[in-house]
Amino acid sequence: MGKSNQEALEFLLQRRSRPAKTLVSPGPDKATLELLLTAAARTPDHGKLEPWRFIVLSKDTLAVLGEKVTERGHAIGMDEDQIAKARRSYDTGPMAVAVLEVQKPSKKIPAIEQTYSAGAACLALLNAALAHGWGANWLSGWPSHDREFTLDAFNLAENERVAGLIYIGTETSRPPERSRPNLPDIVTWL
Ligand SMILES: Cc1cc2nc3c(=O)[nH]c(=O)nc-3n(C[C@H](O)[C@H](O)[C@H](O)COP(=O)(O)O)c2cc1C
Repeated sequence: MGKSNQEALEFLLQRRSRPAKTLVSPGPDKATLELLLTAAARTPDHGKLEPWRFIVLSKDTLAVLGEKVTERGHAIGMDEDQIAKARRSYDTGPMAVAVLEVQKPSKKIPAIEQTYSAGAACLALLNAALAHGWGANWLSGWPSHDREFTLDAFNLAENERVAGLIYIGTETSRPPERSRPNLPDIVTWL
């Protein structure tokens, strides 16, 4: 067995997201973000395809995207509640990173494995931010899954889609513990 890393293990056993609506400025500066993104870019990736990339969204950019959420919501007949709910994190978030899944053509690596890796990159970034002491939250919402919105907002290529938006900022309150799965319900020992 290798050398244990108790602190890392303790972090993983205690980790907890901080709801985006409780996050305020400042968010991490560029050097800090580069550190967090470097950690996220160590995500397992079958075949070294790098099936993800990151777009750093400043508070100002989020505000512009919030306007686009409203425009798109109206265009597709969303009701005002759905629009307001989806817009909230764009309006209040101190910053965010859009994690994009980038499907690479491969005879060997199935598309679904590239999708899994993109999800893992989201968690890696979330955990790096939390471990660094930031509040952070992985959100989607209908705009993340709306092709027209994401093409316009993130200038996606055909082979790209949004895996998640990771909001990162200063936490203002610690959320209560969230109930966690009952291990015997989800684990089979063979
Ligand atoms: C792909 C994905 C999308 C999510 N989108 C949202 C969302 O749009 N709104 C929301 O309230 N929670 C969303 N969540 C849930 C939160 O990010 C988070 O999982 C939950 O608050 C518990 O986090 P924790 O286990 O880190 O404490 C999403 C989670 C995942 C994995």
